[in-house]
Amino acid sequence: MPGETSETLRQLIRSRIRSHPFVAVSNREPYLNTWQDGKLAWMRPASGLVVALDPVMRASRGLWVAQGDGTADRAACDENGFVDVPPGDPRYRLKRVWLTDEEVENYYYGFANSALWPLCHVAYQRPVFRHDDWRAYREVNEKFAESVAREVGNEKAFIFIQDYHFALLPRLLRQRCPRAVIAHFWHIPWPNPEVFRICPWKQEILRGLLGSDILGFHIRYHGDNFIAAVDQELEARMDRERAAIVFERHMTKIRAFPISIDFDAVARQAASEDTEERMKAIRARYGIGEEIILGVGADRIDYTKGLPERIEAVDRFLDRYPEFRRRFVFFQAGVPSRTHVDAYRQLNETLDGAVRRVNAKYGEPGWCPILFLREHLPLAELLAWYRLARFAIVSSLHDGMNLVAKEFVAARVDGSGVLLLSRFTGAARELRDAVPINPYATDDVATAIRLAIDMTPEEAGRRMRKMREQVRERNVYRWASDIVRKLSKLA
Ligand code: G6P
Repeated sequence: MPGETSETLRQLIRSRIRSHPFVAVSNREPYLNTWQDGKLAWMRPASGLVVALDPVMRASRGLWVAQGDGTADRAACDENGFVDVPPGDPRYRLKRVWLTDEEVENYYYGFANSALWPLCHVAYQRPVFRHDDWRAYREVNEKFAESVAREVGNEKAFIFIQDYHFALLPRLLRQRCPRAVIAHFWHIPWPNPEVFRICPWKQEILRGLLGSDILGFHIRYHGDNFIAAVDQELEARMDRERAAIVFERHMTKIRAFPISIDFDAVARQAASEDTEERMKAIRARYGIGEEIILGVGADRIDYTKGLPERIEAVDRFLDRYPEFRRRFVFFQAGVPSRTHVDAYRQLNETLDGAVRRVNAKYGEPGWCPILFLREHLPLAELLAWYRLARFAIVSSLHDGMNLVAKEFVAARVDGSGVLLLSRFTGAARELRDAVPINPYATDDVATAIRLAIDMTPEEAGRRMRKMREQVRERNVYRWASDIVRKLSKLA
């Protein structure tokens, strides 16, 4: 089967969804506005969800409803919150929903990121359940339901809800938009029932999600966990054969759709002259000569990403293999994230301490083993780093999918490079030719770094070719097309 492209997705949407509105809903907006020197500027947030959904929305030419939180967001849109995006080449509409500071505090930092995020990721971070947070979460879900319903009303429409910020939205929308076909995609893992049962509002969350017609996860295992949770908590009919749940006479199909990236676009950009120029500039700026073995990592600074563990593995590697000192540099780009939450603030301190310690332990005049850039690098710059590196490390303690792994693979247009990939990512189920690692086992990760460096170019090339085929074939248009096909069957 030839690969899906933005064009095949557009045709599919045109033929299956026709004139019906296609509405995506997420907390994070794809483009935000800030003021720079008194002028309106545009920025892209760091979010795997945004990376995946933006190309889909460009192809669908639909409407994306999201929280407006850029400092200049209000100035950039009309009085109803509408603005056309992407800037300079508008393809779809963004509708911004405004939240109060208190709502952001309790719904976003609170219930979404201090309760649901740690609950769903097995990273040994204890979830915090506060009544005020839960109240705000419910209210914000209502607010989004009103905002979407204002656009959809009683029309037939396809509504595509994203992630753990909106567990209650499918049910709320079903009540308000009875003719809509609703899909919800849960971008993070779903824990096993033993873990999930500690949530005080577990039944409301399950009921909310069961308002959707299709509930998607990256991998089947997370869907099975969801089914097991419903089985334990609600009076529902489970149809395990069809992976469906009937609750209050409504059927929700549970399906796996592994999310991905726009492989061709990333590969094209990685092969561009601009990237080559950036590679030269990086070599000159950081003194990375041909003799240096470079490793890379790029993540949001989140405790699920295994960042201190990664630094510790580099420490073990330099300790065990002193012959690599002065010849080895590990570059880590880290985007600050959710720093209002204590756990994230602490992580930033831990990480700084770890990097400082390793650099002080091994560094010599003219050589610093770890370069840590706490910055949101544009994709163009990241691609240059990816291309320069001998290997990349993705060491998440738990991750729904992880698109950095796929971006690294797509960027390796020369077919070389080794990916060290945590077994606890969704991506590890697809990228079987990566070197699997257990980020908790620091010594083993140090060994894996050695293995990556020693791998013959033939072996590395064989593995990378297979991974590239995999990501090219199972790209983001395939993800979206599979969902659209399923949705259209329900219309
Ligand atoms: C994960 C979540 C996304 C979220 C992203 C960035 O990928 O699944 O929903 O957008 O992290 O986090 P943030 O809180 O900045 O949106």
